[in-house]
Amino acid sequence: MTTVGEPDRVVPDVGRPWPRGAARHYRRDPLGFVEESARARGPVFRLPDDGSLCVADPAEAQRVLHDEAGDHDDVSGFFHVGGGLLGPRATQVAIGRAARATLRAHVAAHRERLPAVVAELGEVSRWPSAGRAAVHRFLAGALLRPDSSPALRELMAHVVRREVLIRPSGRLARMSRRALWARVVRTIATEVRHRRPEPRPGDLLDAVITATPPETPAEHVAQVYLLLFRTSVAPVGHVVAWALLSAAADGVDLAEVPAGSAVRESLRLWPVAWLLGRPVRRAHQVAGVPLEPGESVSVCPYLLHRDERHWPQAARFRPGRWDGSEPRGPYLPFGGGPFTCAGAAVAQTLATDLLAALTDAARLEVRPGPGRPHVEGIITPPPFLLRRTASQT
Ligand code: HEM
Repeated sequence: MTTVGEPDRVVPDVGRPWPRGAARHYRRDPLGFVEESARARGPVFRLPDDGSLCVADPAEAQRVLHDEAGDHDDVSGFFHVGGGLLGPRATQVAIGRAARATLRAHVAAHRERLPAVVAELGEVSRWPSAGRAAVHRFLAGALLRPDSSPALRELMAHVVRREVLIRPSGRLARMSRRALWARVVRTIATEVRHRRPEPRPGDLLDAVITATPPETPAEHVAQVYLLLFRTSVAPVGHVVAWALLSAAADGVDLAEVPAGSAVRESLRLWPVAWLLGRPVRRAHQVAGVPLEPGESVSVCPYLLHRDERHWPQAARFRPGRWDGSEPRGPYLPFGGGPFTCAGAAVAQTLATDLLAALTDAARLEVRPGPGRPHVEGIITPPPFLLRRTASQT
């Protein structure tokens, strides 16, 4: 058996059954569970809930993501709508490109507004919701153009305030979120029908409408829009929140560090998309483990980014490792292969600009709360307070 930290070949330990309660342990603390499992079983093991093969070996992870042999379904989880898949693949790629172009143009044209967005947070702000609110406020005009229905604009602001962008863990919270999500989909679908006769370039919704064939059900367009809306707001806010929290935990003064390095390091230590699933299409092997159609493989950037063999002092927030002076290990915060994140560059630019605006001419003080990261789909940092005061320079 090989463990993360040893330089040998991968010989997966997948036959050994999990002890009783392993699935419950995994659901309660997925990150802690996979770390312990990688230490005890090596970088390739089955997850105890659905049996998916968790892969944290760099070479195997690349093979899965690039999938040159076509062993996995040619789908991206991103475009699951209405119980099916919004396709064909060319349409998905066109949507990703159109969304990226809309956000990129907005960030380039409006970045000088970021200091004002940061100032609106006030001296003391409550994170990570403040991060999502700041990103939403900054991107609002790109997400929904100002002449959209006021009811829809208010509803989307409500979605951000009510934290509908984050999947809750309790049953009741999940039901109430599902109800609100369904209402939002209906309202956006109405807007899609209203806009369709005269599509024009404008905001993210126009981008999705123009990139989808006209016969696509309005509800499906609405769902994809909503996923892109969530992806544009929540992960970017979380990357900045993780940078603030991790810097405070490791005594790093963010004012002394290039914001781009801090964002890269935040995405290494806390890759918000921490597990990338792929359904198996054809019988094949990953790291010698036979897989059958119907099973799935989950590449784990979280473990890959914390592998001591490739990342010295892997558990520490050290933005200096991005200054080019030391070798770097496997790094997949935006995935890899044909389904790599369409918005990677714009997300990184926006997170960097937002962090730079926060640290500019200010003293930051982070007061961590008692919580743990919330892991439902993406990793959300635990709540903390940020005090930001003008620095005397
Ligand atoms: C920090 C922010 C972000 C992170 C960490 C992130 C991460 C990811 C990851 C890991 C994937 C690949 C999923 C997989 O392999 O299964 C992905 C896919 C995708 N992301 Fe992002 N993302 C971010 C922001 C954005 C933004 C702002 C956009 C808006 C354009 C975006 C659009 C997409 C799209 C369209 C896909 C699907 C790509 C495809 O299947 O062709 N992402 N993202």
